Amino acid sequence: MNSIPIAEQHVDFLKTLLGARCLSGEAITANYASDHTEDFVFYPSVVVKPESTEEISAILKYCYTNDLIVTPSGARTGLSGGALADKGGVLLSMERMNRILHIDEENHQVTTEPGVITEMLQQAVREKGLFYPPDPASKGSCFIGGNIAENSGGPKAVKYGVTKDYVLNLEVVLPNGEIMWTGANVIKNATGYNLTQLIVGSEGTLAVVTKIVLRLLPHPTHDLLLLVPFRKATEACAAVSTLFMAGIIPSGLEFMERDAIIYTLPHVDDPPEILKDDHDAHLLIELDGFNADVLLQDAEKIMGLLEQYDIDEILFAETQAQKDSLWKLRRKVGEAVKSHSVYKEEDTVVPRYHLPQLLESVKRIGKAYGFHSVCYGHAGDGNLHINILRGDLADHAWNEELPKAIRELFTEVVKLGGTISGEHGIGLVQRSYMDIAFSEVQLELMRAIKRVFDPKNLLNPGKVLPDKPNV
Ligand code: LAC
Ligand code: ZN
Repeated sequence: MNSIPIAEQHVDFLKTLLGARCLSGEAITANYASDHTEDFVFYPSVVVKPESTEEISAILKYCYTNDLIVTPSGARTGLSGGALADKGGVLLSMERMNRILHIDEENHQVTTEPGVITEMLQQAVREKGLFYPPDPASKGSCFIGGNIAENSGGPKAVKYGVTKDYVLNLEVVLPNGEIMWTGANVIKNATGYNLTQLIVGSEGTLAVVTKIVLRLLPHPTHDLLLLVPFRKATEACAAVSTLFMAGIIPSGLEFMERDAIIYTLPHVDDPPEILKDDHDAHLLIELDGFNADVLLQDAEKIMGLLEQYDIDEILFAETQAQKDSLWKLRRKVGEAVKSHSVYKEEDTVVPRYHLPQLLESVKRIGKAYGFHSVCYGHAGDGNLHINILRGDLADHAWNEELPKAIRELFTEVVKLGGTISGEHGIGLVQRSYMDIAFSEVQLELMRAIKRVFDPKNLLNPGKVLPDKPNV
């Protein structure tokens, strides 16, 4: 237990407000102290589990008046530490805000509370023939509110866009307890500054989201899945832009280098036999739509286009079970690699044509600094997840040298026209690199926005924005 205590009177107030839905001291279980980022453990002083916007408003108002730090938290599947109470204080768990409020079939919209598991939301709208595409790897456990906070992506982003592309309107509670809506439940909105999109991706640093209105699509009726083994990983990366340039828009275009598959196969039941000795990387390509013939034509086109590369036989997933098994393998990579070794997860993204250069830079820098990396991710978006394994790196190499390597890598990424996080956010672990992606003028503007929302710097302080440089 390393929780920093807060005065007894504050705990008493919160217990009076929430009863058993307020935890303190030994009652705070370990799950509230970590997310999926590295091996971090930070115990909050108090955990509160509100059930309504009004309760959240009362909590925030009290904390604001009494200078208590509040960290909003969803399912804690985050990969940048954004929901960790690293400064103690109050952890505002959204787990009880878990109702889907209204599926509006006439307007293809859903209104939901933030603590709904993303996949459950997808299933609920699917029953009405509707589709909420963003599908982060953790969709079976992450909350939709966390997806809003991080502007999550996932494999479908390549065709359908990321979380922000579906958010129409948000009910939020400001740090001082005030409740407001950010916009309107409409597809088009040219009315004033876009507060809705300012909140999306702000990682719980500006306001607490309490209701979410999302736009939906009709659910596609058909899909196809191909697995393509490449003998050179950089060719797999190069093939990505080849497909787009030929007019193909897949609904998933994922990259897994050899080690990603090797580490993950033992973690899936009934592992598919897909890896041969000369395979360096695979592309998993999904097509979806409403017309099976069109999909088949696109698949044939893809096979023709890929002939120019050094590939092995393409696997066409024939049954739903085969498709599920390949997707399960892909979704499990992060978790499987972690069971091998703690790692630092980098979430680089470049314009997709530069993907081969990005991969080469990762390996070159890895060699220079002596670290092993496992790369995979959403190749169609130019979004490469880089797991830098701790392995047997000594403390000095891990804590002092590796940040220099990451800085070098991020500098390269920005030179390629990319940026330092595609979908995992900045949170705690990437904030010290923000100066690579933004100038001091840009960062000052962001700090000023933070001050407007949260003048006392009490809502998730020390996340996203770097400290000011010493001058
Ligand atoms: C994935 C997560 C780590 O793509 O973003 O598996
Ligand atoms: Zn991802």
